[in-house]
Amino acid sequence: MHGRLITVEGVEGVGKSSVLPVIEKYLAAQGVEVLLTREPGGTELGEQLRDVLLNTEQHILPDAELLLMFAARAQHIKKVIRPALANGQWVLCDRFTDSSFAYQGGGRQLGFQRVDVIAKWVLGDLEPDLTLLLDASRETSLERTKKRRQLDRIETEGDEFFERVRTAFLERAQLGPARVKVIDANPDFDTVANAVCLQLAECCSRWLTETAEP
Ligand code: TMP
Repeated sequence: MHGRLITVEGVEGVGKSSVLPVIEKYLAAQGVEVLLTREPGGTELGEQLRDVLLNTEQHILPDAELLLMFAARAQHIKKVIRPALANGQWVLCDRFTDSSFAYQGGGRQLGFQRVDVIAKWVLGDLEPDLTLLLDASRETSLERTKKRRQLDRIETEGDEFFERVRTAFLERAQLGPARVKVIDANPDFDTVANAVCLQLAECCSRWLTETAEP
């Protein structure tokens, strides 16, 4: 039996970290074995690259940023994601390739085409089964990030950068509507959590039936 890859995406402040435990709990209640992981990160090398990528002291050019994100991803896919999927585990990943399209392709203005070349190289035939894209207005996201500790290198970018990132995420959803489900993350936590569970229920019942069929 092959597992499923579920990714959670969105601009900082949309509430990813609050929603991830809800998803984990929902899947566990369906009797699914879940592996929660994140990008950049998820392996020893990936976590070291994450430190470099988010360190405010680093000056990283857009191409270098893109390549470092994918270096971490290559390690993550081979060492963690593919083995877990092959083992029948469901992988729940906090950010994945759509973030590279949104932040490097959109935010840094490298364009989708360039990201696509490296994505094809690193991912091969791997694609998330479901991507939950949490989407909120810039005002809502800003209000939520204000409460945070110190900002990391990417979080220090300005409004225009984050508007481009948000637009690029929504473009990704338009390009793959069967895979990417946009969740309105503007309302309160319970409303967002309910919307996420509804979306999961729809996909899970289909997948679990497929798995059960001889
Ligand atoms: P977060 O996981 O706390 O949101 O922080 C990760 C940061 O890295 C966030 O600002 C988004 C950024 N990022 C990219 O720019 N490109 C990528 O491919 C990934 C996975 C993350």
